[in-house]
Amino acid sequence: MNLVNKRSLLKTAALSALALAALAGCSKKEEAPAAAPAPAAAPAADKLKVGFVYVSPIGDGGWTYQHELGRRAIQEKFGDKIESTFVESVPESADAERVLRDMAGQGTKLVFATSFGYQEFVQKVAPDLKDVKFEHATGYKQAENVATYDTKTFEGAYLAGIVAGGMSKTKTVGVVASVPIPEVVRNINSFVLGAQSVDPAIKAKVVWVNEWFSPPKEAEAATSLINGGVDVMYQNTNSPSVLKTAEERGVRAFGKDGDMSAYAPKAHLGSAVIDWGPYYTKVVGDTLAGQWQGGAHWWGVKEGAIDLLKIADDVPQEIKDRVAKEGPRRLAGRQLRCLDRPDQGQHGQGSPGRGPSGRPAVSHQHQLLRCRRRGQGPRHGRQVKVSCHPRAARQ
Ligand code: GUN
Repeated sequence: MNLVNKRSLLKTAALSALALAALAGCSKKEEAPAAAPAPAAAPAADKLKVGFVYVSPIGDGGWTYQHELGRRAIQEKFGDKIESTFVESVPESADAERVLRDMAGQGTKLVFATSFGYQEFVQKVAPDLKDVKFEHATGYKQAENVATYDTKTFEGAYLAGIVAGGMSKTKTVGVVASVPIPEVVRNINSFVLGAQSVDPAIKAKVVWVNEWFSPPKEAEAATSLINGGVDVMYQNTNSPSVLKTAEERGVRAFGKDGDMSAYAPKAHLGSAVIDWGPYYTKVVGDTLAGQWQGGAHWWGVKEGAIDLLKIADDVPQEIKDRVAKEGPRRLAGRQLRCLDRPDQGQHGQGSPGRGPSGRPAVSHQHQLLRCRRRGQGPRHGRQVKVSCHPRAARQ
């Protein structure tokens, strides 16, 4: 399977859950939850060993599956120049540290740690493993041998919001939110901004599940949103559970991270997808050339890392046109209020400073506090109104 081609990657992602499981096609060592990578045949001395640490199963249909497609893309592209492995379902706990050290112990020289909560564990092991390059997805702490990388998921959320704004009849959209970090708050706000750009009267409800991957909790949260009058849902969790619940209950929802259309043909309004392949290809190419870069990298629509795919046929043409034209233009020209600020570094979690507008930059802690004070904070199992009044901020 040629995994370098983005369209074919995403098409592949539309396979059923069964097919996804079958796609795993990995040795047992790779499938064992949180297991250390099993000893593989010693790689040829000139092969670069590349390891991936995943927080959920590769068959999750979303976040981890997309990283896995990225891994397959680099294996396909670089062939016998590299040997790539992964460990899936690694909790964001001391287990992560053990897996990172085990990978290094087995000669892995480039490690992609693909979930936010691995950050402290990467920071802990990196000084002891100076001959290993670490790439941490969605984090904000770099070091001599630690780079961070992310995709602008808020762009896909905004585009989905435009569709939601054009499709909600109850004028109430909802989000099943995962772990309360700035990225997730940013995605919620972007989704609501997109919806309100079509209809300013739209209201939003949010339910936090406080986990990245928990299909039962995701379904429970979706049910509670629907019971509360929501008829279009977005999610920041890893599985297609929200979509499946929407299908059962006759409302609409989006896929996230991967193309989830196959899970809910009637409910699916579009999938806000991430393609990690181009970034992984660049990093592996650089590393093979002895030119690993380090630093912070944040790719979006412009770089081909983010897209909204398979917008449903019944979405009015006028809304589709807005997504195709107005969406990217607005994204390019504006910053979002009540979000962490791009001018503060990758995730607005760097040292406080001032943005280009001269306004003091707001740290993510302050931002979360501010949102919490307004009643937006994460509360498991409760519906809360988004009260940060997301608006586009003029520069
Ligand atoms: N780990 C699993 N899913 C996610 C996600 O959506 N964002 C981040 N930062 N980490 C994750």
